Order: sequence, then C-alpha cells, then structure tokens
Amino acid sequence: MRLTIDFLLGLSALQSAFAHAPSRTVQNVGRASCTLTALGSGKDDSPQFLTAMQACSTVVIPATTTLNISTRLNMTGLTNKHLNAFPFAFQTSITFWILGGTNIVVDGGGTIDGAGQAWYDAFAKSSSLLRPITMTLFQATNVLVQNIKMINSPIWFNFVNEGKNVTFNNVTLNAASTSSNGPANTDGWDTYRSDTVFITNSVINNGDDCAAKDSTNIFVANLNCTGSQSLGQFAGMFDIVENVTATNIHMSNAQNGARIKCWAGSGVGSGIVKNITFNGFIESKVDNPVIIDQCASFPSNTLIQDVFFNNISGTSTGSTVANVGCSPDGRCSDINVNNLNLAPSSGTAKFTCQNIKLAGNSASLFGTCATT
Ligand SMILES: *[C@@H]1O[C@H](CO)[C@@H](O)[C@H](O)[C@H]1NC(C)=O
Ligand SMILES: *[C@@H]1O[C@H](CO)[C@@H](O)[C@H](O)[C@H]1NC(C)=O
Ligand SMILES: *[C@@H]1O[C@H](CO)[C@@H](O)[C@H](O)[C@H]1NC(C)=O
Ligand SMILES: *[C@@H]1O[C@H](CO)[C@@H](O)[C@H](O)[C@H]1NC(C)=O
Ligand SMILES: *[C@@H]1O[C@H](CO)[C@@H](O)[C@H](O)[C@H]1NC(C)=O
Ligand SMILES: *[C@@H]1O[C@H](CO)[C@@H](O)[C@H](O)[C@H]1NC(C)=O
Ligand SMILES: *[C@@H]1O[C@H](CO)[C@@H](O)[C@H](O)[C@H]1NC(C)=O
Ligand SMILES: *[C@@H]1O[C@H](CO)[C@@H](O)[C@H](O)[C@H]1NC(C)=O
Repeated sequence: MRLTIDFLLGLSALQSAFAHAPSRTVQNVGRASCTLTALGSGKDDSPQFLTAMQACSTVVIPATTTLNISTRLNMTGLTNKHLNAFPFAFQTSITFWILGGTNIVVDGGGTIDGAGQAWYDAFAKSSSLLRPITMTLFQATNVLVQNIKMINSPIWFNFVNEGKNVTFNNVTLNAASTSSNGPANTDGWDTYRSDTVFITNSVINNGDDCAAKDSTNIFVANLNCTGSQSLGQFAGMFDIVENVTATNIHMSNAQNGARIKCWAGSGVGSGIVKNITFNGFIESKVDNPVIIDQCASFPSNTLIQDVFFNNISGTSTGSTVANVGCSPDGRCSDINVNNLNLAPSSGTAKFTCQNIKLAGNSASLFGTCATT
C-alpha cells in the first residue's frame, strides 16, 4: 500500500491557491471557534477551510453549509483541533485531503461526498488513472473520527498512514454507481505502518475491502459490511502485522469474509503476520467465508503465526466454505479454527487446507491438509 495522490493539479497551482487563501468569510479567525460558510457562486472553499483549520481550535461547518473543495487540502501538523462538520462535497475530480497532527476530532453528523461517479466512469476507460483517496490521516496521533457519513469515494475512503491511536466510530460508508461502471477499489479503511487503530460500530456498503490492515494493534468491532471484498488483507511487504482483533462482524454478498492474504513468489516482500483473531463473524452469501490465500502456490517470505478463526457462521456462495492455504515451506504455524458453522448454498460443505496442521475444535472438518 502507498499514499496515492492525484497529480492533475500542479504544485504551483496548489501553492498559489493557498497563497491567495481568502480569510474574510472565516469568522473569528484567531479565536477558539470559527464558523465556515460557503463562498458560493462557483468558488472553491478549500483555501478558507485550510486557513480556518490552521487558525482556530474548533472549526464549525453549519448543517446548512456545503463546501466546494476543488483543490488539494494539505492539513498536516495540526494540534488540538476539533472539526465539527458538515455537509461537505468534493465537487471536482482533482481533490484529496491529508489531515495530520495531534489531538484532532472530526465529527458533527455531516457527509463527505467523494463525487466518485466521474472517477468510476473514467477509471473504466483508463485503468492507470490515479484516483484520490477521500480522507488520508497522515502522521496523525490521537484522532477521533465519529458520527459522520462518507459517500462515493473515487478510490479508498480512509487511509491511515503512519498514524497512532486513531479511532473511527459510527461512520457510515456507502459507494454506489449510477452507471454500468461500478465503484472500484473503494476500500473502507486501509492502514499502513500505523499503531493502535480502532474501527467500531460502522456500516459499510462498498465495492472493495471493508477494512484492510497492514499495521499493529488494530481493533475492529461491530461492523456490517455489504458487497465488500474482504475483511483483513495483509500485504506482508517488509512489514509487521501484529495484534489484530476483529469481533462481531456481519458480512453479506462479499467476495471474502475473514481473510489473510499474502503474496508469494519471486520479487515480493517479506513480513510477519502474527496474533490475528477473527471472532464472531456472521456471513451471508460470501464466496470465501474463511480464507488464507495466495501462499499455497509458491514459497512465501511472509510468516503467518497465531491466527484464530473463532465462532464464524453463515453461508458461502460455492461449495468451499473455508480454505487455509499455507505456503509449502512451513511458513504458517499455530493456525486455529474453532466453532465454525458454515454451510454452502447447496450440497456438502468443503473445508480445504494446504501445508499446515490445524488446531482447534473445527480442525477435524478439514481432515489432513494437502501437501503441495
Ligand atoms: C467549485 O469550485 C470550482 C473552482 O473554483 C468551480 O469550477 C466549480 O464550479 C465549483 N463548484 C460548485 C458546485 O460551486
Ligand atoms: C504538507 O504541508 C507541509 C507543511 O507545509 C509540508 O511539509 C508537506 O510536504 C506537505 N505535504 C504534501 C504531501 O504536500
Ligand atoms: C487516544 O485518542 C483518544 C481520542 O480518540 C484520546 O481520548 C486518548 O486519550 C488517546 N490515548 C492516549 C494513550 O493518548
Ligand atoms: C451515528 O452518526 C449519525 C450521523 O452520521 C447520527 O445521526 C447518529 O445519532 C449516531 N449514532 C450514535 C449512536 O451516536
Ligand atoms: C448490523 O446488522 C445487524 C443485523 O442486521 C444489526 O443487528 C446490527 O445492529 C447492525 N450493526 C450496525 C453497527 O449497524
Ligand atoms: C502485541 O501485543 C502484546 C500484548 O499486549 C504486546 O506485548 C506487543 O508489544 C504487541 N506487539 C506490537 C508489535 O505492538
Ligand atoms: C493479540 O492481540 C490483541 C489485540 O488485537 C491483544 O489484546 C493481545 O494481548 C495479543 N496477544 C498476544 C499474545 O500478544
Ligand atoms: C459468537 O458470535 C456471535 C455473533 O457475533 C455472538 O452473538 C456470540 O455471543 C458469539 N459466541 C461466542 C461463544 O463467542
């Protein structure tokens, strides 16, 4: 994973937009609380939004206000900020938002609209198109994002890069397309080289990963994911993924349920995936309800240790309800399956595994794992 940014707008344009930041509509600059109102009539509200966030400790965007964000927002290095928001629209296709610093709260019941439709259609024509992530927390510490909605992100909704102690609570994500080109890669949350991230009490309806994590000490609880690709995808590219717990997750119409994915073969990175627990999943019409995949064909440089798939119930679309595919060179150890209660849409459930001796009270469902 990496920080994907949109370069359609040149840096000089960005600087000049910031240099001419009008502050006259930012009320009470320099005071504790500032209120933003839209400039209106086709104008870009990004500069005044940035100015307010830098100048005021609380920025209020009233419920009746819709801001037009047309230039990239670099909001890094903030300290002790509260953004109380907001109906909020990314109106044009060249936007992204980086938020960073210490002690930042984003809340207020508003909606961040990524205006993704144009991106879904353009991406269908050109798959090399770089699309903007809706919100990137970059080097952010002690952040709380709660009680907001985010819709139609061009690509990932949320990206936490090198963050520490970041909480998302009661966030609703929805990506939908009005054309035949569906939302693509609209992951709910991606984290990279971050530590202590909580994602709780949220509802996600999207076209890609619900939450994909490449970080340490991650707690995910009480999520409903519909139409998602998976929960828990670990790249293992020279990285450590350790201490991840996902509890009480509902997944429906998804490609993968509880998943650990690793890349194997020549030229891929190395890493360690350790102490991962999936506990209490209820799945409906999921292609692969329980899966460790893409390690079985080649030796992997990623070690996978101490994994628990506990209390996972529901239905798969095909006959295979669980597959634990480990690398042939013994790179998996201590993989546990407990209380699996999974059924296919029809016929007999298949539990498959490769290159591992499974532990736990559901291990017998898998029988002796194949050696590849
Ligand atoms: C948003 O701002 C851009 C740049 O000023 C402008 O081209 C566009 O028309 C504005 N959109 C709306 C809905 O006001
Ligand atoms: C954001 O702004 C900070 C401070 O001005 C600067 O150091 C940093 O390079 C900027 N980041 C990006 C991605 O432009
Ligand atoms: C973590 O962030 C939360 C805000 O979400 C804050 O209340 C808490 O004090 C922070 N924890 C630490 C250890 O700083
Ligand atoms: C969750 O956030 C929504 C706004 O998106 C709000 O209306 C609702 O009251 C919040 N729920 C809780 C339990 O705070
Ligand atoms: C998820 O869906 C279940 C079953 O429909 C419901 O009981 C639960 O409250 C939902 N959770 C959230 C966070 O919306
Ligand atoms: C994982 O959790 C254990 C137990 O809390 C802790 O000792 C260890 O440092 C954590 N690992 C990382 C990489 O944070
Ligand atoms: C495993 O990770 C969880 C957090 O996800 C942590 O609470 C627990 O202490 C860790 N266990 C070990 C043995 O590190
Ligand atoms: C299993 O998961 C379900 C759904 O999250 C939960 O209601 C139940 O308490 C869990 N049971 C155990 C034994 O953990």
